[in-house]
Amino acid sequence: MVTIPNLSKKNTIPDQPASERVTGENLPRHLAIIMDGNGRWAKERNLSRIEGHRAGAESVRVIVRSCRKIGIPVLTLYAFSKENWQRPSREIQALWRLLSKYLKSELGEMMENSIRLNAIGDIQELPKRVHRLLVDTMEKTGANRDMILNLALSYSGRSEIVRAAQKLAVTCLAKELQPAEIDEVIFANNLYTADMPDPDLLIRTSGEQRISNFLLWQMAYTELYVSPVYWPDFREPELMEALADYQRRERRFGKTGEQKGKEV
Ligand code: FPP
Repeated sequence: MVTIPNLSKKNTIPDQPASERVTGENLPRHLAIIMDGNGRWAKERNLSRIEGHRAGAESVRVIVRSCRKIGIPVLTLYAFSKENWQRPSREIQALWRLLSKYLKSELGEMMENSIRLNAIGDIQELPKRVHRLLVDTMEKTGANRDMILNLALSYSGRSEIVRAAQKLAVTCLAKELQPAEIDEVIFANNLYTADMPDPDLLIRTSGEQRISNFLLWQMAYTELYVSPVYWPDFREPELMEALADYQRRERRFGKTGEQKGKEV
């Protein structure tokens, strides 16, 4: 059971170095994470890549719990890209086993803490048993309201955009919509993330500085944070550092700093 602190706007999360205090004000409404470096973490320890993913699954547990505790309403984790299907089948099978284990072991905590699990991506491509478990978990947690945990599985940002275009084309062919009526709001409502805020912050671990086909539409104005730490070592202190860094930033959304200063 996670204890939820009552973070008021002025509250800070205790036990952090003063310079790195994260306040309850100005937290990301949507945090996206590219969990990278499981393989390198394992290699440095003479372990198999699968051991790296196992340690990575533990970081998933810790970070989901921390985000719920801090009060981040939407967390999206890039767990498996469409490109990842090219990996050795032994590694892919191990990832599905870890995902299944995670879904089974965390269901109770998701229910207790009102976390809704939502998968984004072509999940029908997953093995039947994993797909069923995923859909079952989404159904069971569907009424939970305090946090959304999006797992990107067999996900590709470009495919998501093409899928939205196809959905809109079908709607236009049915004469339910005119092509000229399609605007950014309508387009966004046809993405997997319809009704969710765009990510305010993207964290990528392991020092890599790429977006890797993740949430391409949604990241138009997302702040980027690259952590040098491999995902299995990315735990609450590293998350707090990323959030503290984010809270120091000035987001201008194309306006001048002076214009932003005048906004109430
Ligand atoms: C990237 O590291 C990581 C992945 C492709 C898989 C992420 C999976 C997990 C964190 C564990 C299972 C997931 C859940 C949701 C329980 P990499 O293998 O590309 O690392 P490398 O670049 O160092 O080789």
